[in-house]
Amino acid sequence: SSHNPTMQQERLLKVLVIGDLGVGKTSIIKRYVHQIFSQHYRATVGVDFAFKLLNWDHKTVVRLQLWDIAGQERYGNMTRVYYREAVGALVIFDMTRASTFQAVLKWKGDLDSKVALGNGRPVPAVLLGNKCDQLSTGLCSKLPKLENFTRDHGFVGWYETSAKDNTNIDAAIMCLVESIMAVE
Ligand code: GTP
Ligand code: MG
Repeated sequence: SSHNPTMQQERLLKVLVIGDLGVGKTSIIKRYVHQIFSQHYRATVGVDFAFKLLNWDHKTVVRLQLWDIAGQERYGNMTRVYYREAVGALVIFDMTRASTFQAVLKWKGDLDSKVALGNGRPVPAVLLGNKCDQLSTGLCSKLPKLENFTRDHGFVGWYETSAKDNTNIDAAIMCLVESIMAVE
C-alpha cells in the first residue's frame, strides 16, 4: 500500500495482568508474546514486563505494555504503585481452584480502588478462567454463571483460556484492547 509510515501514530497501553498465585498470569503472557509454554512453575517476584506491538489500523500502532504482577502482591502494598496509569486489566483465575475464583473480586476491588480512567470510570477489565484444558477436575459445574457474574461485577467480557493449549488467549486480549481503544 502507499501509506506513509510517518503518518502512523503509536499508542502505548499499560495493561495489568492480575490474579492469585499460580493461576497462569506469566504463562498467558509468555504464550501471547513468545508462543511458548512451560509446565515448570516459577513464582513471579514483584512485577515483570512484556511488550507486544499490534498493527491496530492503517494509522495506529498499539504498543501493549503487559505488567505481570506477582500473585503474592495482593498481600503487599505495592499495587498502588504498579497500577498507576494503567488503562486496562486481565483478571485471571484458575478454573481448577475455587479459591482463586473467590479472589477475583478482591483483585477487581483492589484495581478499582487504586486506578480509574480520566473520566472517573473504572478501567476496562476482562475475566479469564485459565487452565480450561483441565476441566475434567469438575470445578466448572460449581462456578456461578460467568455471564451474569461478568455483568454484575463490571467486567467487559470473560473467556475460558488455556495457556497450555493456546485457547482464547488472543481473543481475550483483543477484547480488552478493543474496549480500551473504544474509550476515546
Ligand atoms: P505467580 O507469578 O506466582 O503469581 O503465578 P502465575 O499466575 O504467573 O502462574 P504461572 O504462569 O507461573 O503458572 C503456574 C503454573 O500453572 C505453572 O506450572 C504453569 O505451567 C501452569 N499453567 C499455567 N497456565 C496453564 C494452563 O492453561 N493449563 C495448565 N494445565 N497449566 C497451566
Ligand atoms: Mg507469574
